[in-house]
Amino acid sequence: MKIAMLGSGFIARFYADSLHAQRRRDIIHSVYSRNPDNASRFARDYGCTHVTSDMEEAVAHPETEVVVISLSNDMHEPAVALCAKHRKHVLCTKPLGRNAEEALRMMRMVEEAGVFGGYLEDLCYTPKFLKSLASVRQGGIGRVLWTRSREAHPGPHSDWFWDRSKSGGGAIIDLGCHCVEIGRNFIGKEVRPVEVMCWADTQVHPIDAEDHAVGLVRYASGAIGQFEVSWCFRGGMDLRDEVAGTEGTIWMNNFLRTGFEMFSTGKGGDYVAEKAEANTGWLFPVGDEVHELGYPHMFTDMFESIEKGRDAQETFYDGYVVNAILDAAYRSAASKAWEPVQLPVWRGAETAEPIKGYKSFDEKYYLIKEEVLPNGVTKRILKDKVTGEVVSRDL
Ligand SMILES: NC(=O)c1ccc[n+]([C@@H]2O[C@H](COP(=O)([O-])OP(=O)(O)OC[C@H]3O[C@@H](n4cnc5c(N)ncnc54)[C@H](O)[C@@H]3O)[C@@H](O)[C@H]2O)c1
Repeated sequence: MKIAMLGSGFIARFYADSLHAQRRRDIIHSVYSRNPDNASRFARDYGCTHVTSDMEEAVAHPETEVVVISLSNDMHEPAVALCAKHRKHVLCTKPLGRNAEEALRMMRMVEEAGVFGGYLEDLCYTPKFLKSLASVRQGGIGRVLWTRSREAHPGPHSDWFWDRSKSGGGAIIDLGCHCVEIGRNFIGKEVRPVEVMCWADTQVHPIDAEDHAVGLVRYASGAIGQFEVSWCFRGGMDLRDEVAGTEGTIWMNNFLRTGFEMFSTGKGGDYVAEKAEANTGWLFPVGDEVHELGYPHMFTDMFESIEKGRDAQETFYDGYVVNAILDAAYRSAASKAWEPVQLPVWRGAETAEPIKGYKSFDEKYYLIKEEVLPNGVTKRILKDKVTGEVVSRDL
């Protein structure tokens, strides 16, 4: 398919590196940028035949079949409006909106125009994530009780991120969107997110938004999705996920210290990996960054879904639900209380099966815990189902 790329900055280049890698078929033919020099450089680097500083021209171009939005957060909605107007399929980077109201309007625009709306949430497509999700769905860790997702780095690279009016917020909107959607996938997208408790602060940077936050999202099943986000973390980009269930646990380290270690006195090239901060001493490069960050699997899902007329794994609806959860996080950080997730449109289940459920040992007892002790004895701790008495049995 022929793609129009809106924006020529950091993520536009990551997307182009992945779209044009390894003999892929979908090609960026047009690039829009308000800065003509950046647009020309991008066009030269990626072989685009059409370059413009008029966004509508790129979208409306008769050869444009799919539009990829790689613009600052405040420009997502106007760009989606143009795609709906010209009935072009659209893939939008994260976060979908600066808040749920914006995201809901975008979702409605694409649905009313009858075009495809794909949410470019790359971290839900990393090789480790996809494998983990399959294991979770196959019951490999039992019922999911708790997810924990962290994205922390020294802060973003462009001025607009640091301006709340353009970005919609700080680390919560920028990084929390990834963490929340990772947790939501593991817990189950049909399970309603009910309420959020969040701490946020501006610890280091002279900005109006938060540069550090930790939050808990409580789901209708009783599962908890924890997010940890920071623009104050030093030492690179920390991307880690954990899922804990009744029958198992998964830990993932997606970026830093994944088994590739290098020492350099600093005499070679400067670039080690995204936000690496250092190019001397012991370094932790990343083998194939676009792959480790999920972009190829993400674009494959998007373009195959367009071709087959189905929804992608990550849709505008998902982007809107994520925004609604983050809105509740902002309200909670201000009120210091649990805040409800407001979802005027909800397409999941109305009720959820509670994750709570006791394991029966026999007709009389529940099993609380079983453990082999250092002396070889197997100890069982049991609870009487009727009287509630707790007893232990050694084998
Ligand atoms: N992992 C990810 O999925 C990921 C990573 C980084 C950024 N992003 C997202 O990508 C988007 C762009 O971020 P970036 O890092 O590429 O930023 P960037 O500053 O490098 O690029 C932003 C682009 O938007 C254009 N732009 C900014 N303001 C504009 C305006 N008022 N009118 C027209 N064009 C305007 C700039 O000229 C530039 O081409 C953001 O929504 C960000 O959240 C996603």
